[in-house]
Amino acid sequence: MKVAVLGAAGGIGQALALLLKLQCPAGTELSLYDIAPVTPGVAKDISHIPTAVKAEGFAGEDPTPALVGADLVLISAGVARKPGMDRSDLFNINAGIIRNLIEKVAATCPKACVGIITNPVNTTVAIAAEVLKKAGVYDKNKLFGVTTLDVIRSETFVSELKGISLDKINVPVIGGHSGVTILPLLSQVEGASFSDEEIASLTKRIQNAGTEVVEAKAGGGSATLSMAQAAARFGVSVLKGLSGESAVEYAYVEGDGKYARFFAEPVRLGKNGVEEILPIGPLSTFEEKAIADMLPTLKADIELGEQFVNS
Ligand code: NAI
Repeated sequence: MKVAVLGAAGGIGQALALLLKLQCPAGTELSLYDIAPVTPGVAKDISHIPTAVKAEGFAGEDPTPALVGADLVLISAGVARKPGMDRSDLFNINAGIIRNLIEKVAATCPKACVGIITNPVNTTVAIAAEVLKKAGVYDKNKLFGVTTLDVIRSETFVSELKGISLDKINVPVIGGHSGVTILPLLSQVEGASFSDEEIASLTKRIQNAGTEVVEAKAGGGSATLSMAQAAARFGVSVLKGLSGESAVEYAYVEGDGKYARFFAEPVRLGKNGVEEILPIGPLSTFEEKAIADMLPTLKADIELGEQFVNS
């Protein structure tokens, strides 16, 4: 299996490259690409770690050499938030970056699974879908917005609050990946019960967890290390699926459109990417309302991406 990381010299990209070097199955090839000239050095650096995963680095304007033969492409290229910024403030720069990179994916490795980390994920995934469609290679089972960070944050926060062992915890997070569109399904956490106040405050904390990091980094960027671990977990699960084992993750995908064209939900991964979209399960009244409240925002975010490519 070959995994390409686009944006590999960045805060997320370098940590992700390291974690993939440590966590991918033996025989995996990593292909690291970034416009930054340091990228071959990042590959050289991790290649000195003794694991059975190879790494090669590419820099410059054209990602094509890094994409040849890729089975999975993880994209964290673009700019990150500074204090006071919303994820949507990144649209002006990141929309064009995603469009250009996905055009190269469509031309070079059209059958690859693609995981988009670059924000605003609610919109960049729609951009990627429309670019792939225009190129005639769109397969909705192979395009993912990576929302795993919302899941791992929720697992950490719930475990801390309720004293549940981390290896037993499972917190579904659905919707999108910004503010009110992030919805942890606390009613489904096994072995824990929450008061109404806890549900309200914990939901808010999970929705604003990215901003917690942005503020704590005081102008130095947004979440990189936790995001890298989230993307590594997601990437390893996709590879598991592609190699014939089954794995389940929550991801922002094009499903049946019940709520919105793209929606973060549980997916069973397999040889063709998404093998099956799993049911979201029973929702509490709070969660039903939160979905209804988020939909105008989520749908507008998606339309923005569609229009960016098509108008
Ligand atoms: P960073 O600024 O540290 O790294 C971004 C990298 O992208 C840089 O190395 C830059 O050279 C590279 N880049 C820019 N344009 C490029 C292009 N056209 N082709 C290839 N590489 C290019 O930023 P960081 O912290 O790594 O964040 C990256 C993105 O991930 C941001 O958009 C951020 O908002 C997003 N993010 C997403 C999360 C999620 O949960 N999905 C969580 C945290 C961040």
